[in-house]
Amino acid sequence: MRRRAALSLPPSLLLLLCSASSAAIEPISTSIAVGMAAALTGFLASYQNIIYYFHECCRPEWIAFNRTGLQEDLSTRLFGQHLASHIIAKAVSGFMNNANPKKPLVLSLHGWTGTGKNFASALIAESIYKEGMDSQFVHVFTAELHFPHAGQMDAYKTQLQQWIKGNVSSCDRSMFIFDEMDKMHPGLIDSIKPYLDYYDKVDGVSYRKAIFIFLSNAGGESIVQTTLDFWKAGRSREEIELKDVETSLALSVFNNKRSGLWHTSLIDKNLVDFFVPFLPLEYKHVVQCAMAAMSAQGLEPDAAVADKVAADLLYFPKAERVFSVKGCKTIDSKWEYYV
Ligand SMILES: Nc1ncnc2c1ncn2[C@@H]1O[C@H](COP(=O)(O)OP(=O)(O)OP(=O)(O)O)[C@@H](O)[C@H]1O
Ligand SMILES: [Mg+2]
Repeated sequence: MRRRAALSLPPSLLLLLCSASSAAIEPISTSIAVGMAAALTGFLASYQNIIYYFHECCRPEWIAFNRTGLQEDLSTRLFGQHLASHIIAKAVSGFMNNANPKKPLVLSLHGWTGTGKNFASALIAESIYKEGMDSQFVHVFTAELHFPHAGQMDAYKTQLQQWIKGNVSSCDRSMFIFDEMDKMHPGLIDSIKPYLDYYDKVDGVSYRKAIFIFLSNAGGESIVQTTLDFWKAGRSREEIELKDVETSLALSVFNNKRSGLWHTSLIDKNLVDFFVPFLPLEYKHVVQCAMAAMSAQGLEPDAAVADKVAADLLYFPKAERVFSVKGCKTIDSKWEYYV
């Protein structure tokens, strides 16, 4: 959904105006031509500013990283994910503040369902693109939606490669989110490997400023186990460090034949820059999600309503009932029934 209406200009003109950085006019011998050129330049320059304002372009007016905004969003809007918040803030800030990165940023987000992987990706997009997830430079692929037929894998590979190349050619600050990575055909993941690597250019296009985010449930069980171990030992979940989940996460991703990543050399070629674990959410986080959902609707958050919402969800393991089976999923639509 576009929030600003684009001027009704032909796409080719918009592209021309968007891509022109500063108008450079060749010197021409006659003064009339110079005058006309100057007038035209002035007109184009002011016209360009209008176009930049109304039409999303691959320019700083539309793409500018807001570091403090991201940090604040991660700490106040993403609940119960101290590890993910910390890693994402560090990774994205480091990458976006580097004018000459050696490779694109590749993040792999792992965890139980409903723990905020898509939500965190949206927060990243919002911190970079004025239009957030609605930006034309943010592309989301879902295995079952975009690549449903195993028999058409060769066609998908070509389409995906062309799509990535085309988009990065027109904007180097493009972002690609691959959802349900565990359901992605291994060959398809292999086909995007060249874009994730340390190459200066692939077929004349540089991918070094792009961001690739992979989302999956792979390794979710091992993250749950570690979080449960801490809980059983009476330790706070905030004490969990990356090293506590990293090894078992890597092992379970490697050894899970369905995880998608396992089949590829993404991991052993070190193409993934950061593994980002999402911990399973507890009762108190579901309450926070319900409160946030009410605020998002412009209502005064009601703790009693949020408590009812959380109390009605299922928790696991059966004996301890610590973690929400669906995380914070469906909370957005559920809380209204309890008002
Ligand atoms: N940690 C969280 N903090 C705040 N809100 C959350 C969190 N986790 C989930 N939510 C809320 O629940 C919704 C669903 O979460 P999201 O789609 O991000 O889960 P997911 O981890 O991608 O799950 P799945 O593995 O099933 O795709 C989000 O839009 C958000 O409103
Ligand atoms: Mg998801």
